[in-house]
Amino acid sequence: MKDNLINSGKTLFQKIPEALPAPSFTILLDTKNKLTTFIFSKYETPSMKKIIVIILVAFIIIQFFPIDKTNPAPTPGMDFLKIKNTPENIAHTLRTSCYDCHSNETKYPWYSSIAPTSWWVKNHIDEGRKHLNFSTFAVYEPKRQLHKLEECIEMVEKKEMPLESYYIGHQDAKLSDEQRADLVLYFKKIKEDTERKIMFSK
Ligand code: HEC
Repeated sequence: MKDNLINSGKTLFQKIPEALPAPSFTILLDTKNKLTTFIFSKYETPSMKKIIVIILVAFIIIQFFPIDKTNPAPTPGMDFLKIKNTPENIAHTLRTSCYDCHSNETKYPWYSSIAPTSWWVKNHIDEGRKHLNFSTFAVYEPKRQLHKLEECIEMVEKKEMPLESYYIGHQDAKLSDEQRADLVLYFKKIKEDTERKIMFSK
């Protein structure tokens, strides 16, 4: 009887592997059909258990590599909003939609405490600051400022910024069409001011 079961199990196993659903827990919970359970436990259990243990252990190990959440020292007098004397409504939009990645005043969300999402968040912040840092905007040469403002106009108009993934946990960062239009208008105004400054300094 035992041999029979193993044999029938083997034949079935060889015949239908493609027809089986992907490895899953529900199959293991199916105790009604003993034959199915037998086949699946032979076929799935050891490797599934192993995979889950490996994933768990890896998850625990990577928690020992947290990200550095210290913001760079403040640089008073260099901040975009200060030097441009930005109106409060625009300043508010920039703070809620851009400053976490493009300034030294980053507020880290809760999921930045858990690897691997923490690494992904950190990468956005490092890259964001490298490309454009509003906290040190005054350090840029006027020509560079002009270029950054042009990019800001383009990124906001084309809805490429803020990064869509940022909306997870930052619903308030989503820009309405009106907010986008206001931002673009403001960046254009600052761009014209900067162009004028460059012209007069020649
Ligand atoms: C979640 C982080 C995040 C947020 C929020 C965010 N950005 Fe970015 N931004 C990035 C990253 C990362 C890059 C660089 C690489 C890329 O384009 O993906 C970037 C690139 C840019 C660039 C291009 C600079 C260059 O050198 O090409 C501009 C301009 C920019 N962002 C403006 C903004 C503005 C304006 C906002 C707010 C409306 C904003 N970003 C919000 C992460 C962010």
